[in-house]
Amino acid sequence: MQCDYGTTDVSSPHYWSERYQRGDTPWDLGNPTPAFAALVERLDFPKPTAQYRPHVVIPGCGYGHDALLLAQRGYAVTAVDFAPEPLEVLKQNAHLLGIEVQTLCMDVFALPTHRPAAFDVALEYTCYCAINPTRRQEYAHAVSALLKPNGIVAGLFFPLDEIERTQPPYTVRIDEIRTHFETAGLVLIANEVPLESHPARAGREQLLMFRKPL
Ligand SMILES: C[S@@+](CC[C@H](N)C(=O)[O-])C[C@H]1O[C@@H](n2cnc3c(N)ncnc32)[C@H](O)[C@@H]1O
Repeated sequence: MQCDYGTTDVSSPHYWSERYQRGDTPWDLGNPTPAFAALVERLDFPKPTAQYRPHVVIPGCGYGHDALLLAQRGYAVTAVDFAPEPLEVLKQNAHLLGIEVQTLCMDVFALPTHRPAAFDVALEYTCYCAINPTRRQEYAHAVSALLKPNGIVAGLFFPLDEIERTQPPYTVRIDEIRTHFETAGLVLIANEVPLESHPARAGREQLLMFRKPL
């Protein structure tokens, strides 16, 4: 089906910067994502040890509440966004908390050239639904290219709605997500309704995890 995604240029950082400058950020929940707080406790999620600090990349991190959560739990975190405004806030918050988060102001589509196969985990939340839907396959390839062999994508995919939106957050579909990430060479290892969701998102999001083969 052909869909008209409107004239909004969501591929430009200016679109997002202007929204941050206006305070028009309805996606921001103000806290770490409940499903990720539960995920890091799970046995099938990589754990930091004395010898090994898993490196997590968060594309389209926004204010980076999840970046702070993971850094506090001992992960090495690289938080990426092409809008500088939320990264400034994230840096200040990390400083106040006395924790280290690497921030990168960069287009996620350009990132694999700079950091190929550099990460153990890619944490995806509301970046997939923010990019132009015509670029979703390209996005899955980019995320796959960021992962080390055996690395995982942990993605909470939102919004699983009936209506087809012409503005972000663009509607997502499980079968389409699977196709894109599997085409990018990844293997589905989990497909679950999250145990916890923000009330406004309950029933509208799904946790999918993919692994990059060795
Ligand atoms: C809907 S917001 C979600 C922010 C954050 N993930 C959250 O849940 O609060 C989408 C974010 O992705 C960023 N973004 C969109 N396309 C991007 C791209 N191609 N490269 C880097 N960041 C991008 C935007 O600047 C924005 O901060």
